Amino acid sequence: MTRVVRAPAKINLGLEILGHREDGYHEIRTILCAISLADWLTFEQVDADAIALRSGDFDIPASENLISRALDAMRQRGAAIPPQRVTVDKAIPAAAGLGGASSDAAATIRAFGRELADAGVDSAAVAASLGSDVPFFLDGPVALATGRGEVLAPLPAPTNAWGVLLTPDLIISDKTRTMYGAVDPAWWSDGSRVGALARALPEPPNEAPFNVFERALLTRFPEAEAARERLLAAEAPFAALTGAGPTFYTLVDSEARAREIAEVVRGDALTVNVAMLGVPGDA
Ligand code: C5P
Repeated sequence: MTRVVRAPAKINLGLEILGHREDGYHEIRTILCAISLADWLTFEQVDADAIALRSGDFDIPASENLISRALDAMRQRGAAIPPQRVTVDKAIPAAAGLGGASSDAAATIRAFGRELADAGVDSAAVAASLGSDVPFFLDGPVALATGRGEVLAPLPAPTNAWGVLLTPDLIISDKTRTMYGAVDPAWWSDGSRVGALARALPEPPNEAPFNVFERALLTRFPEAEAARERLLAAEAPFAALTGAGPTFYTLVDSEARAREIAEVVRGDALTVNVAMLGVPGDA
């Protein structure tokens, strides 16, 4: 039996850190918005688990990637999932702030929804055990995320919003943890800026939504500034950071305008993508 699932990327429309939590994570407030850029995962029943890359960039060892970890987590909870060959068509740049690994994990969980239901296993609990962003990708397409990122409330999708995403070739080891560690507590805030953005939806932001990681990224990795400046030099309306970076994005109201900006910003040592906001994931 072959199952094919789509794993969309996301961007964050703003991200505030409210403080430390007792479990060692940070309390955050952000808007997660699925976009049309997506990986595709094909699952085929075989004799032994294997993960193969059909296209794109994927240098994470199989034992450490979230697809394998999702399969293991579902089996450990009692789901009867036979060995799988997973073929990944990877379009989402890795470790870029676009949620690629988390979305692949959620797509893996969605692919085996029936086996999870048969075993009485809660998909959301499996997702939350794999990473703070994973639960969002079970539902999407747009949500206010609080807690450590796993407490979700649906929001209206931005209308007519196209993103140009510029991902610099910047490898940050153990990126998410490193970036949380690079935020000075003096930069924490009360969540009101993200709250205002959420209330304005479906109107998309027309200036850069505040993301606390931008200052952290540019302080720790000043070379990331070039990506931001490249978008602004192309007359993008703004340049905003998604997640813990290092992808910067802008938003415009037509695909044609997005593609014009994308043409201007293309260059060496960076990846450019154009995507529509708020595309629902399919199960
Ligand atoms: O949840 P996830 O595995 O993606 O998080 C990776 C790391 O990022 C965590 O181990 C933690 O150090 C940090 N993190 C955090 N607060 C969050 C989310 C992640 O401190 N809300």
